[in-house]
Amino acid sequence: MTLLELADVHASYAGGNRVLHGVSLRVDEGGVTTLLGANGAGKTTTLRAICGMVGRRGTIQFDGRDLTHMRADRVARLGIAHVPQGRGTLTGLTVRENLDAGAALRRDRTQVRKDLDFYLELFPRLAERGKQKGGSLSGGEQQMLAIARALMGAPRLVLLDEPSLGLAPKVTGEVFETISTLRRETGVAMLIVEQNPALVLDMADDVIVLENGRVAAAGTPAELSAQDAIRRAYLGGGE
Ligand SMILES: Nc1ncnc2c1ncn2[C@@H]1O[C@H](COP(=O)(O)OP(=O)(O)OP(=O)(O)O)[C@@H](O)[C@H]1O
Ligand SMILES: [Mg+2]
Repeated sequence: MTLLELADVHASYAGGNRVLHGVSLRVDEGGVTTLLGANGAGKTTTLRAICGMVGRRGTIQFDGRDLTHMRADRVARLGIAHVPQGRGTLTGLTVRENLDAGAALRRDRTQVRKDLDFYLELFPRLAERGKQKGGSLSGGEQQMLAIARALMGAPRLVLLDEPSLGLAPKVTGEVFETISTLRRETGVAMLIVEQNPALVLDMADDVIVLENGRVAAAGTPAELSAQDAIRRAYLGGGE
């Protein structure tokens, strides 16, 4: 079942910089869609359009509701969590305070407590650093904290913007392993922005390649890999 669907979405920034020119994509319930594309292609802007952080038109539907004209705070309350590029840790708060902040909108305190235990088990490095300030964590730990904090809101969909940015390959590997585990264990749907196809193709149900604010290619990883020109141009498939 489709959870999120964008159809012919256009977006522009205040000042008139038009960035998206008709983007369409979908994320299934519990599914993973990845958004690939070069610097400046419009990947971050696509996530901002979903969240209501940038002017947009077209159609954005989430779980049968039209988000196209919805304000950012309402979008968040519907169950869409955004882990922005450059991470979303509150650097002045401790690890534990960051995780509590992630659950601030929830009323189901018993389940919040259980979720906290679950994420601390899944992210042992965060459990060890509960009292440490977010800003003093390593890059990889901050990325893990940003993801854990987003999940503490019990979202149905997580938007992850370049979780590998600025991380060493080994740490990137750990972050993506954790993302795979989260997907398996929580069934949360994800829209993952990446520049490196190798990191996301294995776990993606659907792949969208953006170029200059337009969809240059879309399909399952197998469908795209089967097209030589697309594989060579966008998937780094060699040959
Ligand atoms: N706040 C803003 N105001 C005006 N233009 C912006 C703003 N943010 C981004 N843009 C422009 O929108 C275009 C797309 O930017 P966007 O950040 O969506 O790209 P991206 O695909 O996420 O790139 P990267 O991989 O470098 O993060 C760029 O040309 C950028 O200059
Ligand atoms: Mg970006």
